[in-house]
Amino acid sequence: MDVREIIEAKQHGRELSADVIADLIAGFTAAQVPDYQMAAFLMAVWFTGMTAAETAALTDSMLRSGARLDASALGGPTADKHSTGGVGDKVSLLLAPLAAACGLRVPMLSGRGLGHTGGTLDKLEAIPGYRLHLPNDEFLAVVRDTGCAIVGQSGDIAPADGRIYALRDVTGTVDCVPLITASIMSKKLAAGPQTIVIDLKCGSGAFMTDLARARELAAALLAVGRAYDRRLAVVFSDMSQPLGVAVGHATETLEAMAGLRPGGRRTGPADLVRLTEELTAAMLQTAGVEPDRDAALARVRAVWDEGTAWQSLQAWVSAQGGRLAWDRDDLGLRIAPVAGEFTAPAAGWLEVCDCRAVGLALAALKGARLRVEDAIDHEAGIDWLARTGDRVETGQPLARLRTQNRALLAAAADRLAAAVRIHHEPVPARELILARMS
Ligand code: URA
Repeated sequence: MDVREIIEAKQHGRELSADVIADLIAGFTAAQVPDYQMAAFLMAVWFTGMTAAETAALTDSMLRSGARLDASALGGPTADKHSTGGVGDKVSLLLAPLAAACGLRVPMLSGRGLGHTGGTLDKLEAIPGYRLHLPNDEFLAVVRDTGCAIVGQSGDIAPADGRIYALRDVTGTVDCVPLITASIMSKKLAAGPQTIVIDLKCGSGAFMTDLARARELAAALLAVGRAYDRRLAVVFSDMSQPLGVAVGHATETLEAMAGLRPGGRRTGPADLVRLTEELTAAMLQTAGVEPDRDAALARVRAVWDEGTAWQSLQAWVSAQGGRLAWDRDDLGLRIAPVAGEFTAPAAGWLEVCDCRAVGLALAALKGARLRVEDAIDHEAGIDWLARTGDRVETGQPLARLRTQNRALLAAAADRLAAAVRIHHEPVPARELILARMS
């Protein structure tokens, strides 16, 4: 294999055969193809794209780069959800135990946040004792016993994706439909669930900023799902403002997990509750456990209100070693002690014009990483208090900030100032669910 020829072929937009792609990924996984050649290949794909056949071959090669879990003996229909990433997105922490309480088995692999987006793994790391990495057989045993488990992508599940993703992250090649498709689908297929629901985020806090590009990605994901005989559904959701109130690791974990108490459905942030219900219901309906969306939603609401999901949550977190004070309002999670505020600079109607800036404000508080190797403060956080369309008055708090270090507050507030615009005329509120495809 001459890697330079492969790169040049792609540079000129020529279609690669499945064998060539398989050799390239196998060579990269075996460390025979260096990072710089893979980076050049990824950039060529970013510019010239891939056909459906090439995307399928890339997904398959990345899937075959590691182990595949056998989820067939988990004692129920298996399903998972994947979000394409956003700000304040803590849905997985509610959805996994909700789906488990509804009878699904949810073996979930999660990633870390990078740049402005948050990662479920970082949120779980805020829980004392929680074991993010389990051997594959123990991971499956927790799912079998409690209905769900969430672990980090281990070295032997789609390892090519782990390394390619790290390269994409530092070479500006993340926002590329075939590369995102192969990345998501290779690890989801390796973890083995029959049903996969994709929360395709769209807006200024997401990788896909417009719905047309998001639809293109959805079509590519659905095509791969069909080729592997999986049931796949896509929900397009708005990511032009943070989801829920909390943005940060301990704060998001608290908002999500405390919100699963019976009654939490009525008191939690409306957008977070709505999207969680919608995605969990999509899992039940797509898995064929409920005949339609209304029946699925009714089931989700019942397990939430009756407290069955709250019990599933405790069983799952405890099985992975997590120690939370279930009877305390703060669950015993530590939040950084220094508080600050970001207030409305003028009166009028609010538009969150750059959701990404809220994620970057968290990074300014040391609560998110800009480079893979950065350490993060799990106790830092932002409570985002306003929504696009709200009427606000001068000096009204739009966000509350928490950090270990007062000196970081000013830089975070500067970032937040870029996230909002105040208009003299009313601004329409944003729709949360933009479209569905299955
Ligand atoms: N999520 C993934 O797992 N991979 C991507 O490439 C983008 C979002």
